[in-house]
Amino acid sequence: MQCGAAVKTFDRIAVEDLTDEQAAAELERLAAEIAAHDRRYYVESAPTVEDAEYDALRLRNEAIEARFPGLIRDDSPSQRVGAPVAEGFRTVRHARPMLSLQNAFDPDAVHEFVARVRRFLSLGEDEPVEMVAEPKIDGLSISLRYEKGRLVLGATRGDGTQGEDVTANIRTIGDIPSRLKGDAPDVLEVRGEIYMRRHDFRDMNEAREAAGEPLYANPRNSASGSLRQLDPSVTARRKLRFFGYSWGEISEPAGDSQWAFLERLKAWGFPVNPLVRRCTSADEALAFYREIGEARAGLDYEIDGVVYKISRFDWQERLGMVSRAPRWAIAHKFAAEQAETVLERIEIQVGRTGALTPVAYLAPVTVGGVVVRRATLHNEDEIARKDVRVGDTVVIQRAGDVIPQVVSAVPAKRPKDSVPFVFPDRCPACGSLAVRQTDPETGTQDVVRRCTGGLICPAQAVERLKHFVSRAAFDIEGLGRKHILAFWEDELIKSPADIFRLKNRTDALESREGWGRQSVTKLVDAIEQRRTIGLDRFIYALGIRQVGEATARLLARHYGTVGAWMEAMMGALDPESPARRDLIAIDQIGPSVAEDLTAFFAEEHNRRLLDDLLSEITVTAVEAPQATSPISGKTVVFTGTLESMGRSEAKARAESLGAKVAGSVSGSTDYLVVGGKPGSKATKARELGVTVVSEEEWRELIGG
Ligand code: IVH
Repeated sequence: MQCGAAVKTFDRIAVEDLTDEQAAAELERLAAEIAAHDRRYYVESAPTVEDAEYDALRLRNEAIEARFPGLIRDDSPSQRVGAPVAEGFRTVRHARPMLSLQNAFDPDAVHEFVARVRRFLSLGEDEPVEMVAEPKIDGLSISLRYEKGRLVLGATRGDGTQGEDVTANIRTIGDIPSRLKGDAPDVLEVRGEIYMRRHDFRDMNEAREAAGEPLYANPRNSASGSLRQLDPSVTARRKLRFFGYSWGEISEPAGDSQWAFLERLKAWGFPVNPLVRRCTSADEALAFYREIGEARAGLDYEIDGVVYKISRFDWQERLGMVSRAPRWAIAHKFAAEQAETVLERIEIQVGRTGALTPVAYLAPVTVGGVVVRRATLHNEDEIARKDVRVGDTVVIQRAGDVIPQVVSAVPAKRPKDSVPFVFPDRCPACGSLAVRQTDPETGTQDVVRRCTGGLICPAQAVERLKHFVSRAAFDIEGLGRKHILAFWEDELIKSPADIFRLKNRTDALESREGWGRQSVTKLVDAIEQRRTIGLDRFIYALGIRQVGEATARLLARHYGTVGAWMEAMMGALDPESPARRDLIAIDQIGPSVAEDLTAFFAEEHNRRLLDDLLSEITVTAVEAPQATSPISGKTVVFTGTLESMGRSEAKARAESLGAKVAGSVSGSTDYLVVGGKPGSKATKARELGVTVVSEEEWRELIGG
């Protein structure tokens, strides 16, 4: 059985050298880590890693999947549709699932789509196939439920089956009627896209920059972030817009065709995209695609393709679905937008963990309507591989949501006197040596070069302080990047403990430009509220390499108190010690994480920093999961609808009791919990001799 064995990380082993088992473990770790980063970036707009590190995780995930296609996980970042459900909103089940679309990337695929529809419906050669072609809005989809003409629910797409109840926020959007005009069905779910206009996005980011707040990457993320604010008054200020295009549950027939339905949407008071067009052949659809492609840069909202929909509803019904996407529609995506410009200089940025990240500064160029001045060059090896040089004309690309990238240099336009870029081996912020570590076991070199200056490096110090106060760590409101930098420069905050001593420096604070008694009191209050913190957040806040939120939680649960944890870490400095063995034996903590943890404790300045900090704050213990629970260490699968709780709650509960929750039944399953309307899983479980329990038996097992 798999589940009893401790899962180790194999992150230092080159992809070519991974065994099947190691690859599976790596894919599991990467899926969880990338999902956590995505959530911080997209949902909370508070990323905690540098781009280069994030890119490296994704690239590794891709490379492992390419070598082991059979191990691709359902929850892999490469398979994910939509964003995870944010915490803090009620989860709602969609009355009818919110579907996704099949994609076409070239004209052949569009011809094939129309031909397939014809074959499926056995249409005669002369029979026209009316389609509605619509711009594919790059926003987030939403389901709006009206009962007797009044808006009663607004829900995000979520995973397509259940999303978040964002009704209060939806009510702040001017484009969305709270009462329908004219005659409307008693129950009507209107589906469409919430988006932010480009100019509103730019204005908002400018204001955020001025306030020292993190910037949103693009209008889609900002629309999504704005809609998921727990405080509707924040959403109200964000200028969100809406286009309707479809329906979910409806108590009367929706009409005859998509074209007619769009007309009804307008009559009920919804905005419908003005560029929609009727087409009757693949060629006409493709002409529309080209036209929209040309108009794209001039539109005040982002689109990422065109959607073709078979218009007749009776045909749509006959065509049905294939794997959560309708057979009657297809999204024809635009290629990534590229442009040429001159690379003026390469700057090296230094992050919290000392990672040196190269950033390309470009002659400003418009790519798909957005002015781009900077792009990522990923890392030293990428610059060498692409031989990108200062002065080169380079091709840059914006692919969907990511930060612009430098794709390649254009050698024909290279200045004669150009020289290859030499990556510095000294930190640009503090002058310390910057090195690339080699893994002693595998001999592979880290792609990232790091500054060895630790806390004497101003860049690292400020980045670490920022991390320390960030949302998942100490969560101190009102202490943004700008303030930390200024306080650090003026020596008001040199180390984390200084933050908690700011209350003794209120005179110095009040005399600063832009500060007054009130704002200082507010800041000091926010700090005071965080003087007590849970051990998991505390460990995460220290910003130790590879110790993200999940790892910090594991450590906190294992060691319980801050005293026990610190003592164990000191004991583990000796690689042969029982304490080190105990550390490595924790499920999901491997030798390389242990190495980073002990390296942190081996530094005297870190130990001093901890002592100093602990003299200011109180760290509360975290309860370990009940090891005595009968399901601890067991693998559990849920099937069917549970009466007493939602699926995610059941999963969280089981995990908190130490069980592993799997999606499908296999030989290693210990329990299958069956709710109402179970599917084929129950049959399979019985065949495999897996213990099948009812929801009630399950509740008894876990103690009510
Ligand atoms: S139709 C079955 N129409 O694209 C109907 N979707 O990749 C599914 N989208 O989740 C949606 N503009 O968020 C449709 N005119 C449009 C759209 C559109 C944008 C989004 C929508 C959907 C995603 C699928």
